[in-house]
Amino acid sequence: MAEQFLHRAGVRPVFKQVRCETVLYRVLGDPDRDRRRPGLRSRGIFRASVVRALQLGGYGGPTRMRLLIVADIHGNRAALEAIREPFDACVCVGDLVDYGPEPAPCVEWVRQNAAYCVRGNHDHGAAQNVEIPGSGGFRYLTSVTRPHAVASLTPDQRRFLADLPTSRMFTLGGKRFLIVHATPRDPMDEYAPAEENFWRPRLAGLKVDYLLVGHTHQPYKLQVDDTLIVNPGSVGLSRDGDPRAAYAIIDGDDVQFKRVEYPIDETIQAVEAVTTDATARQMLTDVFRTGGMPTRWMRNGTNGNGTH
Ligand SMILES: [Fe+2]
Repeated sequence: MAEQFLHRAGVRPVFKQVRCETVLYRVLGDPDRDRRRPGLRSRGIFRASVVRALQLGGYGGPTRMRLLIVADIHGNRAALEAIREPFDACVCVGDLVDYGPEPAPCVEWVRQNAAYCVRGNHDHGAAQNVEIPGSGGFRYLTSVTRPHAVASLTPDQRRFLADLPTSRMFTLGGKRFLIVHATPRDPMDEYAPAEENFWRPRLAGLKVDYLLVGHTHQPYKLQVDDTLIVNPGSVGLSRDGDPRAAYAIIDGDDVQFKRVEYPIDETIQAVEAVTTDATARQMLTDVFRTGGMPTRWMRNGTNGNGTH
């Protein structure tokens, strides 16, 4: 049975069969999971992601891999679709929704393509329908755009976000990875600069080659002792003054930060179609066009980073 399924899924026996059967049994034969997630679709996708992980080196596959690292997609489908990179595995570091006008296709893309994903603060907020009070900057945009995110996601998509772990550890291509949206100490909310002194205590006791993070929307890499911290920047809501979509490629030991132009007008048109608040529409237009929050939208000298 397992062999037939794997064959249909295009998986070839590059891993130990015994491990494969164990995983398949756990995925396919868990009645509690089936009760929690009725419908073949979610089980199929989950099953596919497990098979993909198996295929891609987690259990003894190829040693050199090309990884696509994405974070902070924020409902910007046009930006996400502009990324056309070949990859062996995609890793998503959270914040699929809020701000942008098309959260549902972004969630579906991640479900279909990401072998590993963690929950960001915005994923958590949308899954739990958390209301954010805020009068300025990004907090205001969160307060205005969250109802749209909640309304446009299906119950199944919100369950997917709610079920995402806040951190994950895995091995790919012979390298040990930890992924977390913000920091290991505060997985969804802590704002982490590219500073050795900030990171060293947060890495204590962690023996990983790579720590992949997002949240700041600022691309960087930082070597701290034996761990390379990589933040790919934001796919859908840049904040470093470059409005292009940001992502990273890890190819063996090589880390590349990339930017790609996307049809910003398409995103803005979608914003205008779904955002009833005129101020938020203009703010989002400015952010998408400039890759940051213009000072005229800041309150009390802040840009509302608290929920970012
Ligand atoms: Fe974010």
